Amino acid sequence: MAESAQFIFNPLSRPLPLKSGRVLRNRLAKAAMSEAFGTYDNHPTAKHVELYRRWASSGIGLVITGNVMIDRRALGEPGNVVIEDERSLPTLKQWARAVTDQGADIWVQLNHPGKQATKGLNTGTIAPSAVPFREDMQALFETPRAATSAEIEDIVQRFGRSAAICKKAGFSGVQIHAAHGYLINQFLSPHHNTREDEWGGSPEKRRRFVLAVYAEIRRQVGPDFTVAIKINSADFQRGGFTEEESMATIQALADAGIDLIEISGGTYEAPAMSGTLEKEKKASTATREAYFLEFAEKVRASVKVPLMVTGGFRSVAGMNAALNSGALDLVGVARLLAIDPNAPAKLLQGQDSTHQVRPIKTGIPPIDRMGVMEIFWYTLQLNRMGKGGNPKPHESGLLAFLKSLLRSGWGTFRTQRMRPSSKAA
Ligand SMILES: Cc1cc2nc3c(=O)[nH]c(=O)nc-3n(C[C@H](O)[C@H](O)[C@H](O)COP(=O)(O)O)c2cc1C
Repeated sequence: MAESAQFIFNPLSRPLPLKSGRVLRNRLAKAAMSEAFGTYDNHPTAKHVELYRRWASSGIGLVITGNVMIDRRALGEPGNVVIEDERSLPTLKQWARAVTDQGADIWVQLNHPGKQATKGLNTGTIAPSAVPFREDMQALFETPRAATSAEIEDIVQRFGRSAAICKKAGFSGVQIHAAHGYLINQFLSPHHNTREDEWGGSPEKRRRFVLAVYAEIRRQVGPDFTVAIKINSADFQRGGFTEEESMATIQALADAGIDLIEISGGTYEAPAMSGTLEKEKKASTATREAYFLEFAEKVRASVKVPLMVTGGFRSVAGMNAALNSGALDLVGVARLLAIDPNAPAKLLQGQDSTHQVRPIKTGIPPIDRMGVMEIFWYTLQLNRMGKGGNPKPHESGLLAFLKSLLRSGWGTFRTQRMRPSSKAA
């Protein structure tokens, strides 16, 4: 009786059962944030173990790792973890246990960046089609080459193999990264995918790739392992993936048996995920904090699959109002947990964090307009926690930008030196 009264008071505390048979201990999830502190030959480290142990000790129900790549030849940034074989299994096991031993679930977010990888990091990039980036971004990102059918089939297999290794390492599930402009999102987008073979040319053919990835993962992990996906409500880019196509893709994934769908939006070219576009600013109010709630309500009206929404959640009132509206089942939080790792303990008791997510600026407008600026700043905070320290919520944006630029340049150089081909040369 007392317990159910608490559930009514704070819906965040209610457990969430999934189709796989797992039950999340509550409705609060840490959304993926790329840590970028793998080794330069892409192994996880003790920093991952430390950071995730800390988050899990806050009482949170689920943590999703930062994006982990499925192919060493296709990195998104220096310091990505890659899972393509079992060579990191001992550290992966420690990473998983740091969370599961404390009663929380941990999913590995599996990704392939496609064209969204900074210049010089990989020997060339592939994408569904050879479509260049927005002109002002071409200095940072090269024009990709169109993937061959054999390469596409290989990538599908790799997603399955990486998921099977995650299962073996003791993680509670995997999340397919189909959002934010990376490879799967590129296949879904009519702007980035101009193919006319079986992988493009119509909405059904554009979503064939994501459905193939899901089917292969499920084939390799079986029905009792959680498989979720993060997908865009829309790309917010002319000619990109629309709400209509997103809805149809979500329906197809639900029919195929996916455990949960996380809704986000945007790409590097139009960073809606962090609320920097005008449309998100307008949609987010004190009581409706989240940027993609309206779309979640539309999905909920027609598709029966557990939903997580990420982007903009800040207060316990905003989270509970969203849960009470029935539009979603799981609240996703990212940036707040990079400045206050113990926020879940307070939120689950019905209190707000004392820290506030604020816009991060360098004071240099062209830099501040780039979505990656915020990523740099928050990644530094994750790095501090990985080393056992505390975040610095008031750190200067400009200083963080300069430090990160140096780190990224050095990381790209070291990654190039670690490539098997450059060692052989
Ligand atoms: C440092 C940083 C790294 C991120 N890395 C990822 C990632 O690897 N995968 C992903 O799906 N989203 C990533 N995101 C986006 C977040 O998951 C989330 O969608 C976004 O920050 C909005 O949520 P928030 O308002 O709670 O921060 C990242 C965000 C930040 C700040």
